[in-house]
Amino acid sequence: MTTELIQAPRGAGAPAAGAPAERRRVVGLACRNCGRPEPLGPAYVCPACLGPLEVAYDRDLVRATASREAIEARPAGLWRYLEFLPLDTPPARGLAVGSSPLVAADRRGRALGVERLWVKDDTRNPSLSFKDRAVAIAAATASEFGIDTLACASTGNLAGATAAAAAALGIPAYVFIPADLEPAKVDHALAYGATVVPIEGTYDDVNRLCLEVVDETGWGFVNVNLRPFYAEGSKTLAFEVAEGLGWRSPDVIVAPIASGALFTKVARGFAELADAGLIERRPIRFVGAQPAGCAPVATAWASGATVVEPVRAPDTFVRSLAIGNPADGRYALEVARSSGGSIESIDDTRTAAAIRELAALEGIFAETAGGVTIGAVEAARRRGVIRDGDEVVALVTGNGLKTPDARLLGIDPAAPARAGQPGLAPPIPPRLAAFEAWLEGASS
Ligand SMILES: Cc1ncc(COP(=O)(O)O)c(C=O)c1O
Ligand SMILES: [Zn+2]
Repeated sequence: MTTELIQAPRGAGAPAAGAPAERRRVVGLACRNCGRPEPLGPAYVCPACLGPLEVAYDRDLVRATASREAIEARPAGLWRYLEFLPLDTPPARGLAVGSSPLVAADRRGRALGVERLWVKDDTRNPSLSFKDRAVAIAAATASEFGIDTLACASTGNLAGATAAAAAALGIPAYVFIPADLEPAKVDHALAYGATVVPIEGTYDDVNRLCLEVVDETGWGFVNVNLRPFYAEGSKTLAFEVAEGLGWRSPDVIVAPIASGALFTKVARGFAELADAGLIERRPIRFVGAQPAGCAPVATAWASGATVVEPVRAPDTFVRSLAIGNPADGRYALEVARSSGGSIESIDDTRTAAAIRELAALEGIFAETAGGVTIGAVEAARRRGVIRDGDEVVALVTGNGLKTPDARLLGIDPAAPARAGQPGLAPPIPPRLAAFEAWLEGASS
């Protein structure tokens, strides 16, 4: 299997006559910038122009083989979209990732002036974030390449996802993180048995170090040398949204941006479904969401710049999106601009309020990236990018239990708690009368 993959032919050549079975969907890697083909393998940078490498498919073969019926007949999980993913068969081992609920968030939507709001609730993956999707593809590909150690540079959620995937495969994981990450995220990775490597510095410092470590060790860094495969995982959010809506696309997608991989690949996912004839090709406006304290792509969007200027010192409690120098920032900018979308920058107090409101109105507890995304729905509605009657899907990508203190920002932690307010009231004795008195006080 491994040799076969590595020796896959370059370019989307036609199959030998009479031998369609030998034709491969995945034909190699290709540079996103200059189009140069590269052989399939753990590689991520174009030797000609240093642009990012991506998986290249035989599009005709995908169109000929993908169908709604085949997908619907398969078990739940992200492998049901196999024709659009870089593996020939689903892996024999791995976590159950994907098929998360698409929730009609009517109450939250009405409060924002958005009549038709859906929340894609990706708080429920095995390690409680959408990163399980990206890691599922990277880990399965790593196995095919014979790589036996997983690693990553993480802003938090990827650490848990990589650690969990490695545990499920029975291989070691090394996760590199900024040393001052939220304790719940660090603990989560440790719980799966990963080696956590805390680095003094920002995520961008961590990432730079990992570029060197990858050359030194040959480990499978899911978001470095396995990045072309990792990035494909985010397309499955688009596939699930389209299938969940009855095989069609919404008017607007709202999604968080850190490196920009998720945002750009969700756009790609919808385009691939339309190319394959599984959905009608309709315009979708893509709205990106960044925290104000680390918003390099939103800043470029607002100023009309074509270059994304890095943020050297991110200052936000949205640690999961605190990437100052986003690898796919330029492409995310293009997606927002060319689709008539926007990139919104949301301050932390608003993000905390959005976390509380989504939890209280819809029963979905998001981590900080989800708060930024719901904040961006509101901002894009105010800006007019979301219009009357639009159908909007917000991608809520991580679970609030990973950032348990975030929802309290902007409210007085010392204030006595009442029903409907955050925080915990002082304990009461286990007697009905005490409870009744407490309820009386809480509702007054
Ligand atoms: C919960 C969550 N949502 C969204 C993102 C953004 O992902 P990307 O780096 O693909 O833009 C991250 C990145 O870490 C994340 O942790
Ligand atoms: Zn190139």
